[in-house]
Amino acid sequence: MRKKITIVGAGNVGSTCVQRIAEKGYANVVWVSAVEGLPQGKALDIQQSSAMIASDSRIIGTNSYEETADSDIVVITSGVSRKPGMSRDDLLLANMETVKRVTESIVRYSADCIIIVVSNPLDAMAQLTLHVSKFPRNRVLGQSGVLDTARFTSFLATELDVSVEDVHACVLGGHGDTMVAIPRLTTVGGIPITELLPKETVDRIVERTTKGGAEIVSLVKGASAFYAPSAAAAQMVHSIVLDKKRILPCSVFLEGEYDIDGVFVSVPVKLGANGIEQIIEIKLTPEEHAALKKSAEAVRELVDLMKLG
Ligand code: 2OP
Repeated sequence: MRKKITIVGAGNVGSTCVQRIAEKGYANVVWVSAVEGLPQGKALDIQQSSAMIASDSRIIGTNSYEETADSDIVVITSGVSRKPGMSRDDLLLANMETVKRVTESIVRYSADCIIIVVSNPLDAMAQLTLHVSKFPRNRVLGQSGVLDTARFTSFLATELDVSVEDVHACVLGGHGDTMVAIPRLTTVGGIPITELLPKETVDRIVERTTKGGAEIVSLVKGASAFYAPSAAAAQMVHSIVLDKKRILPCSVFLEGEYDIDGVFVSVPVKLGANGIEQIIEIKLTPEEHAALKKSAEAVRELVDLMKLG
């Protein structure tokens, strides 16, 4: 039987997520948003493209969570996005009530699903979702590590003029200015980039990666990125639906791994049919480890503001 995937939110990220997943054809998609008519109309539009993309996915747009019942995977994209000059952290108060309400509604109808959080500030919203859902930690994860790593990968492929398929990058930490790119473990065809590029170039690309979302916000002005964010969520869905067991950096709730306890940050995980099937602890240098801990503390400061108790 085809899997059932719910996408919450009908903004740019939600819309492109539905499109990307529907085009795979391996799941039926329920698209829920509070805006009357919007998910219904857009779902109809995507459904009408099915003949041209040879997809048998059924797409249902709805304002009611009842239709999401028994979903296998739920992607939460709800909330407002930042405007020029804002950090993702500025969205905490605006988005926490929305994400809390969405999570409660999802859990009421799909108690066994895996939730992928895309709403910002990413790691804090993932932590809120885990808290409200009371799910085990293998079933709640955030999309940011995949997105940040993809940005690093694409900048490197462009710089080196090589296939993006041969670049394997590693970016850990929170989805913000403290994220931790690890050039030492980033390779092109197995060769560390530290052997292929001068340090100044690597530093410049790391800096651009860290500000990857902000660069787009400052150019587009009225909206934040959505093509790469939705591609990141879709890649995670893909690994779960097909039980691919990809090793991807995802935002996960750490319980002592990397000497970090009780907070979400991105680290490499094995992603399969059961969600997070393994958290992989790589040996970091003291500097890398200190940067990861600093990033975790930045997330913790935001989480504390939510007073989850
Ligand atoms: C980004 O980094 C919106 O968080 C997303 O572009």
